[in-house]
Amino acid sequence: MFRKNILCIGAGYVGGPTMAVIARHCPEYRVVVVDISHERIAQWNSGDLPIYEPGLAEIVSEVIGKNLFFSTDVDSHIEKADIIFVSVNTPTKTFGLGAGKAADLQFWEKTARQILKSSSTGKIVVEKSTLPVRTAAAIGRILDSNDQGVHFEVVSNPEFLAEGSAVRDLENPDRVLIGARQTESGQAALREIVEIYRHWVPEEKIVTSNVWSSELSKLVANAFLAQRVSSINTISALCEKTNADIEEVARAVGMDSRIGSKFLKAGVGFGGSCFKKDILNLTYIAENYGLFEVARYWEQVVQINSYQQRRFVNLIINNMFNTVAGKKIAVFGFSFKADTGDIRESPAICVCQALLEERAVLAIHDPKALEGANQELADYTGQFTLESDPYHAALGAHAIVVATDWAEFTTLDYERIYESMEKPAFVFDGRNLLDHQKLYEFGFSVHRIGRPSLSRI
Ligand SMILES: NC(=O)c1ccc[n+]([C@@H]2O[C@H](COP(=O)([O-])OP(=O)(O)OC[C@H]3O[C@@H](n4cnc5c(N)ncnc54)[C@H](O)[C@@H]3O)[C@@H](O)[C@H]2O)c1
Repeated sequence: MFRKNILCIGAGYVGGPTMAVIARHCPEYRVVVVDISHERIAQWNSGDLPIYEPGLAEIVSEVIGKNLFFSTDVDSHIEKADIIFVSVNTPTKTFGLGAGKAADLQFWEKTARQILKSSSTGKIVVEKSTLPVRTAAAIGRILDSNDQGVHFEVVSNPEFLAEGSAVRDLENPDRVLIGARQTESGQAALREIVEIYRHWVPEEKIVTSNVWSSELSKLVANAFLAQRVSSINTISALCEKTNADIEEVARAVGMDSRIGSKFLKAGVGFGGSCFKKDILNLTYIAENYGLFEVARYWEQVVQINSYQQRRFVNLIINNMFNTVAGKKIAVFGFSFKADTGDIRESPAICVCQALLEERAVLAIHDPKALEGANQELADYTGQFTLESDPYHAALGAHAIVVATDWAEFTTLDYERIYESMEKPAFVFDGRNLLDHQKLYEFGFSVHRIGRPSLSRI
């Protein structure tokens, strides 16, 4: 009944949304997503999805049970599949050679061996995870080690979606990149993958390349995005010393069409599971090829990000008379960015931990990430509360710390919040999100990133 069987191994932030959108646009393909996590698969099947992305629940409910299926039965679905996307996690290695930098490829290698073990017919294996350049060669060697003459073709198709806007990015991507070998079977596999995306992505946005360029482009795209954030953040530090205003500088600089205005927002630093890990991976690869200057250059992007987080913590402590011990501080936002519940590498983690170490008492409010905050800060249980109501979080607090750019923080009644707080009341806006002039008029002392403080003290 279905024209082709697509399988995706890994039902996470990438696998789930990507396959839901493919299923929606390709009704003649059967799309199955498998994962070793029974809990995750049960959540996908329950309608109470394991991840929050605007618009995702609607798409999943449209196609689930029709041509989109979630399962834990990895082996039997491998056997049935024609095309296998692999979107398992590739975190930074925490042990052995390359610890703290290299990508940990154990999940990928296990998956490749599982594909090999459970396949009696040839398949296209698509690298959806972000992988070090030349991984396809290693994966190909594992898959080719079968003695039954089964042919596997490894294709690279990195995912560029951003969390918080995953559905929008998948529906309307800037580009889809597909890299394949320049052989006949490589090009045939490439055409199969192009055919999937052609259902909804305009031809000119489907870019093809060789495998290595495709693998490397994903790492480079993330490195460039993170580099812009770190670049503007270094200038925010300079603005604070000189009374220049980072918003004005970013606007003037970004209007240069050669530079562009995106990703020039100064703040408490980037987070998310990818930027840091992918840059560290890039530096590790460069080092492996003896390109130490290249490695040092990119490493600095990550170091500046940590520096920016420390600077923000110092800004808070210095302005609160050098002590926050015993003081209640309301933290607005814990996810690494707005519109996601994902807290991986969130700057809020570092900020909260530092304040808790200083013995502050935190009241953390986030629309989607309170469960994650609870787990992440488990070592400090008893020193913080989780608040679903921002007004309750701020009640009796000495300060509000804005750690995530959730739009709903901008529409709160800050006059009411000010009245309910200890005085002097502070706002530390790590995202330059709120209307600072208004806050100042209500009575707050306002401190922000790269902009002169509006201080009443
Ligand atoms: N999160 C993003 O915004 C994003 C964007 C682009 C690319 N990527 C890349 O995509 C990859 C996946 O990222 P993610 O955020 O979806 O990760 P994730 O941790 O949310 O999901 C990975 C899933 O793979 C499963 N898994 C691991 N080993 C498995 C196995 N052997 N068999 C079956 N399932 C297995 C895990 O249980 C998990 O559910 C990473 O390489 C990441 O760098 C992520």
